[in-house]
Amino acid sequence: MPAEPGYWAIVPAAGSGSRMGATRPKQYLQLGDRTVLEHTLDTLLAVEALAGVVLVVASDDSVWESIRPRYAGQPLEVVNGGAERCHSVLNGLDVLAGKAAGDDWVLVHDAARPCVRRDDIRTLLASLDADCDGGLLGVPVADTMKRVDANGQVIATVDRGGLWHALTPQVFRLEPLRTALRQAIADGRLVTDEASAMEQAGYRPRMVPGHRDNIKITLPADLALAAFYLQAGTS
Ligand code: CTP
Ligand code: MG
Repeated sequence: MPAEPGYWAIVPAAGSGSRMGATRPKQYLQLGDRTVLEHTLDTLLAVEALAGVVLVVASDDSVWESIRPRYAGQPLEVVNGGAERCHSVLNGLDVLAGKAAGDDWVLVHDAARPCVRRDDIRTLLASLDADCDGGLLGVPVADTMKRVDANGQVIATVDRGGLWHALTPQVFRLEPLRTALRQAIADGRLVTDEASAMEQAGYRPRMVPGHRDNIKITLPADLALAAFYLQAGTS
């Protein structure tokens, strides 16, 4: 009998938060009693199925060291990131390749999504079966969708049936994901999520319904919204 596949997580946290425009990267902004990154790590580390978490930080990161002591003794490894998110995730996968099996599941979750619900992570993991290519959390598009030309004029209304927002976590098997991301980067396709790389490699990820409060903190107003969601206690 082959061993059951293991589950691991990668948290890309090597971005600079340029759209946020704060004095420090957004993953280190305070959100209630902890930083954004700590909320994210605490939620992941509470998911029993995960064997370990790989945190990816920028090579010039100057904040993580002050947070690290809080995680002493936890199954957390830290690695340096790269120029784009896809490079950072690939660095995390390369580290995992040294300790995990090629068909283990790897869940990738943005540091900048601190409101993810633990139950949604469990639902995503529970949706995986031996035959599936992996999956991701998402929510169906609610607004009417328009296509606009370069002058800002509406040229079409796009049927929103079948359109979803892609969130994280996204979960795939280690080696297929590593190969797909490596290939995307080699081809100059700087994919913004793991599912894109997998789709382009011919896989069909499964969309698993999540919740709209799993926002990615991007702009200053998102912080207050995230604080509200965390206080509401759903995550
Ligand atoms: N990320 C990363 N390595 C990069 C770029 C981004 O690990 N080279 C991470 C970010 O830290 C974040 C996640 O990927 O947790 C999603 O990226 P995004 O929201 O774009 O964050 P930033 O790149 O930091 O923000 P911005 O694009 O506004 O600069
Ligand atoms: Mg970015």
